[in-house]
Amino acid sequence: MKAWLWDGSAGVDHLQLGDAPNPAAKQGEVVLEVDYAALNPADLYLAERRYPYPVNPPLPHVLGRDGVGTIVQVGEGVIGVRVGDRRTILRSQAGVFRWGSFAQRVSIPAESLVEIPPGWTDEEASCATLVYMAAYRALTMWEPLKPNSVVLVTGASGGVGVAAVQLAAAMGHTVVALSRDEDKQRRLKELGAAFAFNPHDSHWIKDVKDALNSRGVDLAVDNIGGKLFPEVIATMGELGRISLVGELAGPVPNFDTGTLFSRRLRIGAMALGYYTPEETRTIWHELLSVMAKSGARPQVDRVFPFEELPDAFERLRSGPMGKVLLRVKA
Ligand SMILES: NC(=O)c1ccc[n+]([C@@H]2O[C@H](COP(=O)([O-])OP(=O)(O)OC[C@H]3O[C@@H](n4cnc5c(N)ncnc54)[C@H](OP(=O)(O)O)[C@@H]3O)[C@@H](O)[C@H]2O)c1
Repeated sequence: MKAWLWDGSAGVDHLQLGDAPNPAAKQGEVVLEVDYAALNPADLYLAERRYPYPVNPPLPHVLGRDGVGTIVQVGEGVIGVRVGDRRTILRSQAGVFRWGSFAQRVSIPAESLVEIPPGWTDEEASCATLVYMAAYRALTMWEPLKPNSVVLVTGASGGVGVAAVQLAAAMGHTVVALSRDEDKQRRLKELGAAFAFNPHDSHWIKDVKDALNSRGVDLAVDNIGGKLFPEVIATMGELGRISLVGELAGPVPNFDTGTLFSRRLRIGAMALGYYTPEETRTIWHELLSVMAKSGARPQVDRVFPFEELPDAFERLRSGPMGKVLLRVKA
């Protein structure tokens, strides 16, 4: 098969499209012939050797955590799926500790696959699981929000951000979305945000307060960190909660914990990797029922041919509107 092989050196220029042995389905696994794979910042972090914790897969390694395709081989002990069935990858160690979906075939534990949601296209199904589950847990990891709470989403145009905007809106909350791009702010309002602001505007915090009639934010979903984080804190209301999902802008400089006391704010990290396959499946089915209420669908930014993975990474780095995909099968 063809696969994008990474030699373990830092940088996406160390990925080479080459020939690799076909994977075989071991006990409890299936082999998926990949139609579409989706990119995530985690793939970039790994390729650039700046993953949030040490990850040293055997080399060469194949990246790619998300994907959709057809089952072409079923290992011993697998029940409930057959050769020819179409499935999407829910969440597994593929792309991190074992070979992932930037290849024509990938072996996956059968328990880490789910059916394609009815009516979804293959493209939509290939890119949704990781980011919608991250967004859903970020919204639900605390005690339940009161009806019509205010939810602020940073990096709202990205995979997790779009999912958080759609899910929070479908749950009936007032969504404030942050994006540095005016066109993307407009799209985010179409997707359910009540308000959208540019976090690089010096007056964005005042704009949020004005828009909310001085009401504070109840829950922030933060994908960015960095210098923006203390500004997010400034928008929070009494007993506000901040769910940390990512840190695209890096560490928070000079953070003052004193800003948390008077409003008794809480900060918590969400990490999908710590959920069991059963919990993961439950999260997925819960969020699908929320999406069904509003008819929300995954947003595909752009699909790149398999041979153009480096360009797809450039698009991801530049700040997409939704998800960046690879069409693996010609
Ligand atoms: N904890 C977990 O289990 C988990 C699971 C999934 C993802 N994540 C993490 O969550 C984060 C978001 O993932 P994603 O898939 O949504 O990323 P993404 O698709 O790359 O989008 C992030 C968005 O954030 C904005 N952005 C990027 N860099 C920025 C910067 N330096 N300063 C301000 N804004 C910036 C961009 O929007 P604008 O250009 O519109 O401003 C971009 O579209 C990543 O760090 C990812 O690794 C964590």
